[in-house]
Amino acid sequence: MSDTVLITGANKGIGFEIARQLGQKGWTILLGARNKERGLAAVKQLQTEGITVAWVPIDLNDLATIHAAADKIANVHPELKVLVNNAGIPGDMDAEPLATKTADLKATLDVNVIGNFELIKTFTPILERNHGRIINMTIPASGNRFFHPFAYCTSKSALNQMTKMFGESFKSQHIPVEIFGAVPGGVSTDLNNHMDNRFMRSVEDGAGSVVKLILDNHHHQGKTVMRFGGLKLVKKVITGH
Ligand SMILES: NC(=O)c1ccc[n+]([C@@H]2O[C@H](COP(=O)([O-])OP(=O)(O)OC[C@H]3O[C@@H](n4cnc5c(N)ncnc54)[C@H](OP(=O)(O)O)[C@@H]3O)[C@@H](O)[C@H]2O)c1
Repeated sequence: MSDTVLITGANKGIGFEIARQLGQKGWTILLGARNKERGLAAVKQLQTEGITVAWVPIDLNDLATIHAAADKIANVHPELKVLVNNAGIPGDMDAEPLATKTADLKATLDVNVIGNFELIKTFTPILERNHGRIINMTIPASGNRFFHPFAYCTSKSALNQMTKMFGESFKSQHIPVEIFGAVPGGVSTDLNNHMDNRFMRSVEDGAGSVVKLILDNHHHQGKTVMRFGGLKLVKKVITGH
């Protein structure tokens, strides 16, 4: 039987490309998407490429959809090996902290933190049976001089802390699930209005780095892992070699 992965927010962007790359390696793809039309269009696209894939309705703003998805997957795909918590929103990327609207921060935390928390809690019992992995898509906690949108960085910092604490807890409680954060680097997508500068990577490269992490045999329990030669890239841009 092939390995099975559930990827949230996989109808476009990095999530869709992770689905494609794992599908090309023979994985069965459960493609999470909140919108039926967009979800089915993505499924159709991957099917034309010969990939085994099904749409799973998941809206991180509607926790009941997470529970319904887990109930169905526990029955139909009890072999689920990997959950990629990819769905995410940017919040207002231009607002300084004082100018940030409370509603915007709350909306960003609802998806990037609360939705993912619910996914981790709900899917761990299924993954536990298969010694599975949970990958949280993220950024380094602190942001940097050039990129520090307040609501987004705040939410991803909380996600990183959550990853660390779930990892420590899985270890001490002997729960056979590995959880870690994966940093794809700056990737030009809808999330950042297709930001274009020398530091940005293609969706194929960004997703490729995450797929490598999913498939490696290394232990990343609780860590936030960045494996895309980011420092080398910065040095190359600055020094030209
Ligand atoms: N792009 C980057 O540079 C970068 C860097 C580091 C980490 N990441 C992380 O990588 C992940 C994917 O980002 P991306 O750049 O590929 O973004 P994207 O192209 O905007 O895709 C985001 C996906 O999340 C889905 N989504 C948003 N809110 C949702 C909700 N409430 N319920 C279910 N799905 C929801 C979107 O669905 P709809 O189509 O329905 O809106 C879409 O499928 C995010 O977690 C992001 O924070 C991205």
